[in-house]
Amino acid sequence: MKILIAYFTMSGRTKKTAEAIASALTNHDVSYFPMELTGKFIEKIKKLDKFENDDFSEIESGLDNLDAAIYDLIIIGMPTYGDKPPKAFDEIIVRMKNLNGKRAIVFNTARFTGKKSLDYMKAKVEEAGAQVIDQARFRKLLWIGVKNAIKFGTKIND
Ligand SMILES: Cc1cc2nc3c(=O)[nH]c(=O)nc-3n(C[C@H](O)[C@H](O)[C@H](O)COP(=O)(O)O)c2cc1C
Repeated sequence: MKILIAYFTMSGRTKKTAEAIASALTNHDVSYFPMELTGKFIEKIKKLDKFENDDFSEIESGLDNLDAAIYDLIIIGMPTYGDKPPKAFDEIIVRMKNLNGKRAIVFNTARFTGKKSLDYMKAKVEEAGAQVIDQARFRKLLWIGVKNAIKFGTKIND
């Protein structure tokens, strides 16, 4: 299968989780659409603020080229902010071409909650016409390990 993993990350936990899942997808061809906020903390917060105010100008070309057509499976991973995914999630769903009819998997990372946010992600992906075949929440207060993510990836791989 050709698999696209689209993720958003500000402090690296969702990226780490996405890469751990991908490390187990040995039978498949994996590509990424990473939305990674970089720079000093204050710069990351400013970028996040822009996105939360629906200004995606910095990543416009990436969003423009987002097309699910060549993939058999779309995996979308997000952190949890105020019990919701970041606005970047909604933007990905709106902008991704040919999501309708695709198989999809959603996952999120969180410190305390995340269930409501994951339900929201699943509902939005289904509204776009994709079939959500699996989902996972990786919740850790402090250090987020990769064990559960690799286990989840192994399940997808098989
Ligand atoms: C502004 C902000 C809001 C957050 N809100 C929540 C929340 O509502 N529930 C929760 O469990 N974790 C919350 N967190 C923690 C993040 O979801 C968690 O650390 C996530 O794994 C970060 O992913 P990242 O390292 O990929 O950015 C919040 C973090 C930030 C910075």
